[in-house]
Amino acid sequence: MTPISIALIEGDGVGKEVVPEGKKTLETISQYTDYKFNFLNISAGGEVWKKTGQSITEASFEKLKTVDTILLGALGIPGLPQGVAEYAVLRIRQEFNQYVNLRPIKLYESMRDICPLKEEHIQSGIDMTIIRENSEGIYRRIGGSVQDRTSIDSMVFTKTGVQRILHFAFDYAVKNQQTKITSVDKANLLYTSQMWRSIFEEEGKKYSNLTKESFYIDAFCQWLIRSPYDFQTVVTSNMFGDIISDEAASLVGSLGMGASGNINPDPEGISMFEPIHGSAPDIAGQNISNPIATVLSVKLMFEHVFDDPYIGKAIDTAVENAVKKNRTPDIFPRMNNSKLLQVSTQKMGGYIRTELEKLLKK
Ligand code: IPM
Ligand code: MG
Repeated sequence: MTPISIALIEGDGVGKEVVPEGKKTLETISQYTDYKFNFLNISAGGEVWKKTGQSITEASFEKLKTVDTILLGALGIPGLPQGVAEYAVLRIRQEFNQYVNLRPIKLYESMRDICPLKEEHIQSGIDMTIIRENSEGIYRRIGGSVQDRTSIDSMVFTKTGVQRILHFAFDYAVKNQQTKITSVDKANLLYTSQMWRSIFEEEGKKYSNLTKESFYIDAFCQWLIRSPYDFQTVVTSNMFGDIISDEAASLVGSLGMGASGNINPDPEGISMFEPIHGSAPDIAGQNISNPIATVLSVKLMFEHVFDDPYIGKAIDTAVENAVKKNRTPDIFPRMNNSKLLQVSTQKMGGYIRTELEKLLKK
């Protein structure tokens, strides 16, 4: 097999701890399968901004254009002007046309103990995918401030932008044998949401086997904690997706469980995979961050770039098996359960590797 080139952007804070664990997963796979990877380390984020005045240099950005795919940790250090470190990730999403942000949310059976909801709200379990529009909405950053007295952010939706994300979501639901798709908007107020909802209803007619429902964002946030078991594919615009994905990740343990794929569905496109959590400066450098979101982002890489659900499933099972006994502090139950061991970032990654080896050796 020709080697696959992967850019690794550790970034700042806990990004430096979790990306090596994602790499460990990739190395384990190349050890037991025909996959070969070439890794290219790229710097970006707050520390780079301090040195160069840019969160990613032009030279680094050019290098990203040469790789097959990207794994990113997190960007941001305390004390910088707002947004300068994060700019790199937004630029990558925009310029590589990664218009889909895929965020699966799954509660492992053995982790019901860490779900903040009572059993009656968990019922059959939590297993949904949030599909967030990743290229427009309020993230186009059109606006500005007038003498610190008035500030404007414009929310931009285009028909093409809305249609392509909705089609991706409908097709995703069908491909994954789902019966229902939920669209989240604010159509009782926003023009952009009214357009979104009418396209959802119109395009939805082509998918007769799917039940379609729309919620206003406020109501959805409420149902997300009352009956999360009810959702399968959830599709929404950029900022709503940002917000609900943090809430949803917390339902399945912590932000440290939230994986994501910034996907350009064009086969020639370059996609980027990253945990949804930030650089977490409060716990950075202590080897206690949760590497699972990053490892599960690698799973998404196999499913969506290498088109290999078999390896994707193996990574998922390895994580599921590893958390039966080992947990980083963020997913460790308050009432200690003697069967569980509290472990470091590296140990957690190591246990996942051991479980993955068992599956791949078979
Ligand atoms: C995320 C993050 C980013 C976003 C930030 C870092 C710009 O919160 O990936 O969810 O808002 O998209
Ligand atoms: Mg976010």
